[in-house]
Amino acid sequence: MTETITIRRPDDWHVHLRDGAMLKAVLPFTAAQFSRAIIMPNLVPPVTTTAMADAYRERIMAALPAGSRFQPLMTLYMTDDTDPADVVSGYESGRIVAVKLYPQHATTNSHFGVTDIEKIHPVLAAMEKAGVPLLIHGEVTRPEVDIFDREAVFIETVLDPLVRRFPGLKVTLEHVTTKEGVEYVTGARERVAATITPHHLIFNRNAIFQGGIRPHYYCLPIAKREEHRLALRKAATSGNPRFFLGTDTAPHARAAKEAACGCAGLFVAPVALACYAQVFEEEGALDKFEAFASLNGPRHYGLPVNEGTITLVRRPRAVAEDVSLPAGEAVHVFRGGETVSWTVADADSAAAAVA
Ligand code: NCD
Ligand code: ZN
Repeated sequence: MTETITIRRPDDWHVHLRDGAMLKAVLPFTAAQFSRAIIMPNLVPPVTTTAMADAYRERIMAALPAGSRFQPLMTLYMTDDTDPADVVSGYESGRIVAVKLYPQHATTNSHFGVTDIEKIHPVLAAMEKAGVPLLIHGEVTRPEVDIFDREAVFIETVLDPLVRRFPGLKVTLEHVTTKEGVEYVTGARERVAATITPHHLIFNRNAIFQGGIRPHYYCLPIAKREEHRLALRKAATSGNPRFFLGTDTAPHARAAKEAACGCAGLFVAPVALACYAQVFEEEGALDKFEAFASLNGPRHYGLPVNEGTITLVRRPRAVAEDVSLPAGEAVHVFRGGETVSWTVADADSAAAAVA
């Protein structure tokens, strides 16, 4: 049995860090495991301009544990009014790496999102020309579409037409959750890729209703049937360079989730690499783990791979239930209260102790 895994240092291509006290509490977990992360812009108000991204980046850098070399990669939140010139200059000056498209009302803080894709055609054309990647939350939000079909309908009615209309645009289908999504990305033209979360590889939709309603399994896109989970596991562990790591770690205070109308999002950062490693081990694909975690993402984004390595050891670790916030609040940790079998042994940031 494999006892240690050493891979080139990985990146997380989809992270919600929030702001203020929450940022300070959750950032060390991501910084301890990952060299870089794409930072989602769905703050309140959202990060819609390069100047706002600069300011958010400063707050992230100020919240980092001393000695950390973690690099946040900033993104803009696309609205109907996004300025193509700001996007292109922000990208060309290295201050942003991508723009995120949320269909309006698709998820947490997406009420500012795009109302009609036609409205953003000029900015997409500018992004295509300048090579700016588009990150997509791939769900339609029309009320007549069943929540479990939202991704598949989005792919057919929005994503595929967009990918064809802008043939040079670099596109990431974020947190793919369906076999239709996997098939689409596998067969799409060049420059189309997808991130896969740890949680969508680990549970299916039954977990949300196991013995009662379980808000700590509720995220968007919502977990689907078992056949979809199996398709995701196959894609992630296949070595196909179009699939790579993006945790979608999305912390919310317990009170915001354990409520009559609970927020979507799971705080997976503390167990992210442990969960992925377990999946690759179970699939007999540890030899493909480095490609998924550390090579495929940089390749899609045209960035260098990281220097240095990270080592995971087989060492059972009890996962704390919660991470505390000031004022007595807490964030439940995915798999909190359980034991994971892989532990980061040599993360070189000052926050190593937390991973
Ligand atoms: C995310 C959040 O809370 O910001 N929630 C989630 O369920 N994934 C938003 C998102 O990425 O959809
Ligand atoms: Zn997300």
